[in-house]
Amino acid sequence: MLHESPIWPAQLDHFRIDAPDPSSLAEFYCKAIGYEISLLENGDLFLQGQGRRLIIGKGETHKRPYHAFRLQSRQQLDEVRSFLQAQGINCLENPSPLFERDSLAVVDPDGWVSVFGLSRSDLPSRKASNNRPPLSMPGRLQHIVVATSNLEEMIAFYEKTLAFSPSDYVLKDINDKASKHVAFWRTDEEHHSFAAFGASSSRHDHHAYETSGWMAIRDWADHFANLNVPIWWGPGRHGAGNNLFFMIEDPLGDKIEISAEIEKLDRSVGPRWWDGNDGKAVNLWGAGWARD
Ligand SMILES: [Fe+2]
Repeated sequence: MLHESPIWPAQLDHFRIDAPDPSSLAEFYCKAIGYEISLLENGDLFLQGQGRRLIIGKGETHKRPYHAFRLQSRQQLDEVRSFLQAQGINCLENPSPLFERDSLAVVDPDGWVSVFGLSRSDLPSRKASNNRPPLSMPGRLQHIVVATSNLEEMIAFYEKTLAFSPSDYVLKDINDKASKHVAFWRTDEEHHSFAAFGASSSRHDHHAYETSGWMAIRDWADHFANLNVPIWWGPGRHGAGNNLFFMIEDPLGDKIEISAEIEKLDRSVGPRWWDGNDGKAVNLWGAGWARD
């Protein structure tokens, strides 16, 4: 079952953040991450940068109504539809204005909505980015993560129902494989496009941009320093995924990660196991970030 999912290759394409004041949050993302805003016909703010795009809509703080994975072709979309039907999943109507209307959406046990589909080709394109520093900085939207109080059911959904490939688990007790605390999944060769951390509540955790290397991480940190946006965690190197990283917070307190060198794993590679007690899974270099 594990290797039969047609959700491969699939890349994280965009997601929606809600905010009580979408324009001011969008302004931060444009200045800090390098996005350009277009207004969509439904009133959503459409932010696009180099390899990254985002929808900001009006709603409650910390809400993330959906995240969307881009498929390669209509044939793959048809295969995913048949696969999900065979898995007995009820598909929702596609909530994303960036994807074709017949794209598919599914809801996980914690209520997070994953969309699988094809990008619309009639969206506004962004202007040339010369002389616009953050817009010109590479940072492809690469992964998105949730915290969950319901990890076991989430693992079953992502591995059995969607048949995502597990890359790494972090265990509370290294001698007990049933004591999973974190799970990382990939939908193409990159170590994870989605992950879930065990926590006291189910909530948004962070999203990440993959940049071109260590020097680009420096440039992003310098750029944030110029905006007086401090580093919140890192720099470091995650054990799981082996990626260099640091994180900042957006004005609503949600975490944003800049990453580089994320590990690539062939589809056939099985999951590995990390001891959650020494913190190495989340940071080989220093302090961890313990979710409560
Ligand atoms: Fe991350």
